[in-house]
Amino acid sequence: MTISIDQQIIDAATKARDCALARYSNFCVGAALEATDGKIYSGCNIESAAYELTMCAERVTIWKALSEGARRFRRIAVVADTNERLTPPCGACRQLIWEFCGDIPVVLANLRGDTETLMMSELLPRPFDADFLKETGGTDA
Ligand code: THU
Repeated sequence: MTISIDQQIIDAATKARDCALARYSNFCVGAALEATDGKIYSGCNIESAAYELTMCAERVTIWKALSEGARRFRRIAVVADTNERLTPPCGACRQLIWEFCGDIPVVLANLRGDTETLMMSELLPRPFDADFLKETGGTDA
C-alpha cells in the first residue's frame, strides 16, 4: 500500500508534535511543510516562561525550512489534539505562511485521524503582502 502525500506530511507533523514544549498551555502542536523538491521540514510549538516569546509550531517549521535554504513549498500540515474543531494556524502564522508559501493547501489533522484541507486563500482572504509596499515606493525584492 502506498502512503498518500497528505498522510506523509501528517505523520511528520504528528511526530514533531511529540517534541512540543508546551508546559504552560499543555496544548501541543506539530507542523510539517513540504518543499517543492519533496523534502519535508517539521517543527513543534515552543513555549517560554516569558509567555509572549512562545513560538507556534508553524513558525518554527517555516524558520527551519527557510534557514536550510528551502524557498518554494507545496503544502503544510498542522496537527493538534482537538476533536470537534481541527486546529488551524493562528493569525500571525497565517500571515507568514502566506508570505513565504503563498496559496498552498493547509492540511489540518488530529490524533484520531480526522483531516480537513483548506487553501491559504480561504484562511486568509484579502491578505496584506509585499505588493502593497510597491505603491509607496518600497520594494518586494
Ligand atoms: N499554537 C501553535 O503552535 N499553532 C497553532 O496553530 C495554534 C497555537 C501553540 C502556541 C502555544 O504554544 C499553544 O499552541 C497555545 O496557544
